[in-house]
Amino acid sequence: MAQQDATVLLDEDHNAVMRLFEQYKAAHDGNRQEVLASQICQELLVHMQIEEEIFYPAFQAATGDMALLKDAQKEHAEAREMIAKIQADRKNAKLMLELEDAILHHVNDEREKMFPEARKAQGMDLMALADQLEARKSELMEDHPA
Ligand SMILES: [Fe+2]
Ligand SMILES: [Fe+2]
Repeated sequence: MAQQDATVLLDEDHNAVMRLFEQYKAAHDGNRQEVLASQICQELLVHMQIEEEIFYPAFQAATGDMALLKDAQKEHAEAREMIAKIQADRKNAKLMLELEDAILHHVNDEREKMFPEARKAQGMDLMALADQLEARKSELMEDHPA
């Protein structure tokens, strides 16, 4: 059983990826930067996938807030485009900074709008969702080890 609810779990992912961006910016060695860039992309892809498979549909069912969801999905699509470019050009620091900006914006939307609404919603079992998110994440991480 998860020890914390789904919003806390997802926010821990957010914090972890923001720390990786900090490490990326502090790294002066090109190889280290490339390793961090691919780790960041991988973590983000898994995070977006579990949100889209598990958290967003539960949020939609419980709140019907399509405006927030459409925004979030659009931001995921934009992030995926940036990630594809970075994966083809891992040395491109400018793209990494653009990705960081976009992710920061998206994370703030989830943290300040979507997660508070989810915690208020009736009929979202945030503890059960945390278990599902965790299980799916470990599955996906095994498929694509960093
Ligand atoms: Fe998201
Ligand atoms: Fe997220």
